[in-house]
Amino acid sequence: MNDRGPFQGKFISFEGGDGVGKSTQSQRLSQRLERCGIEVVRTREPGGCPFSERLRHLLVSGSPETMDAKTELLLMTAARIEHVRQLIQPALKQGKWVVCDRFFDSTLAYQGFGRGMERSFIEMLHGWALGGWVPDLTILLTMDPQDGIERAKEKWGLLNGQGAEARFEMEEAAFHQRVHEGFITLARNDPRRFRVIDAMSSEEIVMEAVWKAVKGGFPEVA
Ligand code: TYD
Repeated sequence: MNDRGPFQGKFISFEGGDGVGKSTQSQRLSQRLERCGIEVVRTREPGGCPFSERLRHLLVSGSPETMDAKTELLLMTAARIEHVRQLIQPALKQGKWVVCDRFFDSTLAYQGFGRGMERSFIEMLHGWALGGWVPDLTILLTMDPQDGIERAKEKWGLLNGQGAEARFEMEEAAFHQRVHEGFITLARNDPRRFRVIDAMSSEEIVMEAVWKAVKGGFPEVA
C-alpha cells in the first residue's frame, strides 16, 4: 500500500488499546497466512528482538511514575529502531511477511494522545529514526477501553508475581479513553492503511473480519 522500496514481503500491524485481543488475532492471522504458503515472522512492540526486549522490560514494568514521558518516548523509539533494523527489514527483504503486535501508531496513541506529547514532534522523531516508515496494512481492533482494561487486568492477575507487565494497565481510565480516541482519529485520517474491526464480537467473527481485510488489501492471498 505504501511505496514498497526494496522489500518483497508485506508488513501488517495490529493496533488497539490494552486487552482488545491483538496477540490472539495476530497469531491466528499468521497461521492462516502460513497455510497459504506464505512465510511469516510474527513479532511485537515494544520488543521483538533481544535488545528491544530488554528495553521492553524497562518500559512495561514498575509503576506509571517509573519514568518521564520523554524517557518513555525515546526508549520506545530506540526499541523500534533496533527491531526494524535487526528483525523486520531483513525479513521483508527475504520476502517474508511480518505480522507485528503494535508499531508506530501505538506511539502516537499512547505517548501522543495518552500522555499529551506533541504529535508533530513524535512524527518528526519517527521521520528522523526510521524515515517515517509505516506498515502496509494496519488492523485496528476496538472495544470500550474499560472492557479492554478489565480483560487485560484479568490476564495480569494470572501473571501476578511472575513478572507482570502492567505499567500501562495501571493508568487511569481517562488515559485509556484518550488512547482509544487517538487510535480512532489515526484510523480516520488514514483510511487507506487502516481497517477498523469491532473486537467485542467472538474470536471467530473477529478473525473472519481480519482475514477479509487482509485479502482485500493483498489480492495475492488466496
Ligand atoms: P503490549 O504488550 O502490546 O500490551 P497489551 O498486550 O496489554 O496490549 O504493549 C505494552 C504496552 O506498551 C501497552 O500498554 C502499550 C504500550 N506502548 C506504548 O505506550 N507506546 C508504543 O509505541 C508501544 C509499541 C507500546
